[in-house]
Amino acid sequence: MKLPTLEEIEVLHRKYAPSDEAFKSVYIHCQIVAEIAKQLFSSNKNIDPDLVRAGCLLHDIGVYRLYKDGYIDESRYICHGIFGDELLRGEGLPESICRFASHHTGVGISKEQITERQLPLPHQDFFAETEEELLVMYADKFHSKSTPPRFNSASSYKSYVARFGEDQTEKFQNMIDHFGLPNLEQLAVRYGQFIV
Ligand SMILES: [Fe+2]
Repeated sequence: MKLPTLEEIEVLHRKYAPSDEAFKSVYIHCQIVAEIAKQLFSSNKNIDPDLVRAGCLLHDIGVYRLYKDGYIDESRYICHGIFGDELLRGEGLPESICRFASHHTGVGISKEQITERQLPLPHQDFFAETEEELLVMYADKFHSKSTPPRFNSASSYKSYVARFGEDQTEKFQNMIDHFGLPNLEQLAVRYGQFIV
């Protein structure tokens, strides 16, 4: 499988970003997620680091489709994954890359959750299936594109995800046990952002 190069990935971001501000927000977030993931795969020999990097750098590309008058339409945020998947598929990227977009939200979304919460998503499970997909999903939890952007400690993400049920917290804990915790301090200093 031919993975997109870093240059090709940046070209895609620039192509779909509706503004320079949107590009910076999403692309820098993706780069930070890639750096977090890089800290975590060194101990796991079964992970393809190049695939993880491409997945991190493209996972949120669907967010660009949510920009309206310069702001992200939060009411449709849950759709950014499938929008990204569609966009990447339209660009002819392989299935394994497209899936990073549609299968990284939260700690995975089940068909039941889609029905119960009446989410505007196709009625199917959106779980990370490969080690690479799981790592991209996990690394993404430690950074937010909020205003201002910030790093999330494991405890702050845990308290956030707890509102969606005990099983969601358990899934996050399983990922912590599996991959370990990233060192966010150095990244926070480098990017000049807070850890909450
Ligand atoms: Fe993300």
